[in-house]
Amino acid sequence: MSNADPKNNTFINYSEKFYNLLNNSIKDMVHTVLVVDDEPDNIMLLKRALRKSRGLNLITANNGEEALRKVRELNGHLTLIVSDQRMPKMTGTEFMKIINNEYPNIMKIVLTGYSDVDAMIDGINDCQLNYFLIKPVDLQELKLIISECISLFELKLSKSILSKDLKELFFTTIKSISSALDAKDTYTHGHSHRVTLYSLILAKELCVDDSMMEEIETAGLLHDIGKIGISEDILCKPGKLTDDEYETIKKHPIIGKKILVGIKKLDKVRDWIGSHHERWDGKGYLEGLKGAEIPMPARILSIADTYDAMTSNRSYRKGLPHEVASEEIKKCSGSQFDPDIVKIFMKVEHIFKEAIKDPIEYYNKYSILSKSLDHKE
Ligand SMILES: [Fe+2]
Repeated sequence: MSNADPKNNTFINYSEKFYNLLNNSIKDMVHTVLVVDDEPDNIMLLKRALRKSRGLNLITANNGEEALRKVRELNGHLTLIVSDQRMPKMTGTEFMKIINNEYPNIMKIVLTGYSDVDAMIDGINDCQLNYFLIKPVDLQELKLIISECISLFELKLSKSILSKDLKELFFTTIKSISSALDAKDTYTHGHSHRVTLYSLILAKELCVDDSMMEEIETAGLLHDIGKIGISEDILCKPGKLTDDEYETIKKHPIIGKKILVGIKKLDKVRDWIGSHHERWDGKGYLEGLKGAEIPMPARILSIADTYDAMTSNRSYRKGLPHEVASEEIKKCSGSQFDPDIVKIFMKVEHIFKEAIKDPIEYYNKYSILSKSLDHKE
């Protein structure tokens, strides 16, 4: 890579610093390894083999039940479990199956005798073992495999930290842009966040999956991003707009599409934003799309956007009560709005009515993007 561009240099330097910091903190980790075997001699052997390995915290258990208790006490904060297959009460694969369900990131090795191989193979897919080794095990080989498992665990960990950081960066950037947008138009303060909230309420009732909910949330936060390109004199004008001013405002979906061009992750969102002022009867803008030609999330955004426009205060008028806005939406079913989504609106409008009293609290409740950041990776 060329170092000619000083901006790039700065970026590379920061990236390198970040990666080094991440790698060093992972390298400094103490890895907890649990050895499970009902034969004390085998445990002693493994302990002796791993004693000199750096950065290992070795713990032991004599059977699956005791091991499970210890893993749960540690809340799954382990790197690796090495378990014997044949043990009283619970076999190694039965134990590993529970571990895989509860703590899928822990690396798993099972040691087994020849006679148990067939039975074990049946259970392997259920517990996602990293290795199974036939006894007697060569201790040098086992040490190598353990160190390979630890490297793999570190790699998975750094990947998950990086992807979480990227997601957080993405979400906070989108939220900041949206807040900047809301601040630009003082009369519609909080509009983007409320439109996002209403869109999420409708999308949830439509049972869309989490990844689409994330995209709908992004689209809600950015749906008016094109207003960045519209003069504040027009945006914040109290009272009625002239025809020319209205034509200028109507450009915001196309400006929004232009702003987001080239951001691959936002390809779909970009299309929805461009269509959020289309109407079911084809009389909307930008392209005069009709019915199902309008992407479904854009049809959701359209109802959410109009509901907020009607219920929020303006400098020249007070927001309409929920009941009046609700009647208007029902009246426009099949003309401005998709009748199926209006039916969904009618099912959840009581939530709209409640949410309007405390949009921030409701937004936090419905936000998928902020929740996904808290998930266990
Ligand atoms: Fe808009």
